[in-house]
Amino acid sequence: MTLNKYPPHQLHKPVLLKQATILLKPIKGEKYLDLTAGFGGHAKEVLEKVGNGKNLTLVDRDLVAISALDSFRKLGAEVIHDSFYAAVTKLRKENRTFDMVMLDLGVSSPQLDSPERGFSFSRNSKLDMRMDASQKLSALEIVNEWPVDKIASIIQNYSEDPFARAIARAIVDSRPHESTKRLADVISRAVRSRVGGSRSRIHPATRTFQALRIAVNDELGQLEKTLPMLPDLMKIGGRLVIISFHSLEDRIAKNFLQEESSSGYESRLKLLAKRPISGSEYDASNPRARSAKLRGAVKIKT
Ligand SMILES: C[S@@+](CC[C@H](N)C(=O)[O-])C[C@H]1O[C@@H](n2cnc3c(N)ncnc32)[C@H](O)[C@@H]1O
Repeated sequence: MTLNKYPPHQLHKPVLLKQATILLKPIKGEKYLDLTAGFGGHAKEVLEKVGNGKNLTLVDRDLVAISALDSFRKLGAEVIHDSFYAAVTKLRKENRTFDMVMLDLGVSSPQLDSPERGFSFSRNSKLDMRMDASQKLSALEIVNEWPVDKIASIIQNYSEDPFARAIARAIVDSRPHESTKRLADVISRAVRSRVGGSRSRIHPATRTFQALRIAVNDELGQLEKTLPMLPDLMKIGGRLVIISFHSLEDRIAKNFLQEESSSGYESRLKLLAKRPISGSEYDASNPRARSAKLRGAVKIKT
């Protein structure tokens, strides 16, 4: 078996690969659960160390990622197309346990960059933003059908944009929406009318687009419901690594790890590093790693 025959997808450069692998510490024969397998960048590194595809369980809710994981399936890996919440619920019911559990949150580069996925306004496309294309709720439904208060609240909660209310009003007043570019222009005008000509480093629509994406995919809800189940899936001595890209995601991960590691004798986990490992410091050559934070823990008690 030549593992190098199966390089990770060229379009997605795994974030903090070296640091994640150091914390996961894969050893020959160990079992790996990747809950956000994507294009297999982290999984490939682990596969090389554990030595057998059968030791890998790879989960993703995106069918494009699932088909990209076919090379792992051919090596015997278990590939699950589902949300990580649903997958973890099922694996837990089956009393499955692993030596390593990986969560590399958010979206992959191919998801963000493919115009037909409708995540981005850098190229004009039909708004969508669903990681799982079989899901009903899309960004199109939110911007065309949700009431102004509900839209303002997701922009406020998920992006903390000070102009959340004005942006939501402008979105509702300029219905119907179809394309990413027009929505970005509407948001841009709403923000510029408030701040005058002042220039920000990021496009005025960036934060709203991120908030819409988080809402469409229930990203924070998935994480909050899944984390408490993870220690049950870990063997004693098993390692958990979480990479987050958004301050709210990182806060959920940090609070969970703190709770699980600070109850003295009762604690199920022990932190592998007190402070998060930052992408801007340790993976500076990868533009996707700019906002990444990596945290890790080891299971010490059932
Ligand atoms: C940052 S990418 C992972 C990249 C991967 N580590 C690699 O190196 O190729 C995140 C992946 O997680 C998936 N994902 C995000 N949230 C998910 C969820 N709640 N359930 C299942 N998959 C999810 C996305 O579809 C995406 O493919």
